Amino acid sequence: MNKISLSRSDYLISQKVIHWLMAFLIILDLNIAQKFGGEMELWDRLESRVDHATVGILVTVLFIFRIILRYFYGAPALPNSMPNWQKFSAKIGHYGLYFFITLLIFTGIASAYFTSDPIVIFGSLNLSSETDSQEAFQLIRGVHEFSTNAVIFLIFVHILASIYHHFIAKDKTTVKMLKFWKQVG
Ligand code: HEM
Repeated sequence: MNKISLSRSDYLISQKVIHWLMAFLIILDLNIAQKFGGEMELWDRLESRVDHATVGILVTVLFIFRIILRYFYGAPALPNSMPNWQKFSAKIGHYGLYFFITLLIFTGIASAYFTSDPIVIFGSLNLSSETDSQEAFQLIRGVHEFSTNAVIFLIFVHILASIYHHFIAKDKTTVKMLKFWKQVG
């Protein structure tokens, strides 16, 4: 299948829906995971792992669709008024998010694989190998936590940049991701 090289001025509606669904699910998953670092009752930890991994897998599916849409349909160009250093920083920020979300997903699935108790999602899929390899679990979980912090940092910068575009630069970059009901030119 060939890439569609239309120069569009707006995102597809499906790209906007995926963007906001992913944002919502990542925040929800962070909320579920914030207690994993501390002491927990075993039943609570095991149930929370199932909830966390289920939401994480939904994020993974949306992320795959997002990359496919981005590959075939691209994204609107950044405004001509943006200085080159800002265009370059935006690129680094976006690639950084793609990179660390990918790392987050892989290390999440690997952490689940190295747990000693089952993590059954959607009622039948067990992500755990039910091994006793505590060292592998702790090592990968450390990378999972690091990628979480990197994603939180990049999301924070991403939000600051969108506020800047809307209120200071006053261009249409942020509005493009917000308006579902009409094309933003
Ligand atoms: C949406 C993206 C995700 C985010 C933001 C996220 C975030 C986190 C955080 C903050 C922790 C706690 C780290 C710590 O305190 O040591 C954690 C632990 C964990 N995550 Fe994720 N995660 C994501 C995706 C996934 C996925 C896709 C899976 C597996 C399918 C997964 C499986 C796990 C497991 C097994 C743990 C360890 C739980 C425990 O310590 O008992 N995560 N995650």
